[in-house]
Amino acid sequence: MTHHDRVRVAPTSETATAPSTHPDSSSEVGADLQQVLVDLLDLGLLAKQVHWNVVGPRFRALHLQLDEITLAVRLQADAVAERAVTVGVAPDGRAATVSAGSRLMAAVPDGMPAGAIQDGVAIELVNTMLTRAIDGLRAAITSTAACDPVTEDLLIGVSAELEKQRWMLIASR
Ligand SMILES: [Fe+2]
Repeated sequence: MTHHDRVRVAPTSETATAPSTHPDSSSEVGADLQQVLVDLLDLGLLAKQVHWNVVGPRFRALHLQLDEITLAVRLQADAVAERAVTVGVAPDGRAATVSAGSRLMAAVPDGMPAGAIQDGVAIELVNTMLTRAIDGLRAAITSTAACDPVTEDLLIGVSAELEKQRWMLIASR
């Protein structure tokens, strides 16, 4: 390393140690991230449930598409959980926490059916759950905008991915 390099490195590491959010807002941002996390973890589980149980003429396309949705949702959930740690809040992805905290089933009054699910019903169920998750993300985007634009930016990316998945799902109606 030359002397010149050292001179350039010093300000960068000072910037890296700066707080990522206003200290008073970390718990609020963490609560938003935790709520989004449990919704996404639940969505990943429910998408797999439909992946396994879908039947009908559109089985093949939906079976494959639901795995793409599951993968996308799990990657986004990981990013959300790691953002929570970054702002100093421990993410909780335990099954009991997800079960108690997810808001997705509130959008499906009869709950997720056990057993086989007809393809048309499967599309509507997953569309409803994706929409509920997106609504939650939009609310979290609004509430984090003022106190932590970095979390806001992350959540905008998560919502964009879910909205894209929803488009591809309902295009096959
Ligand atoms: Fe599979």
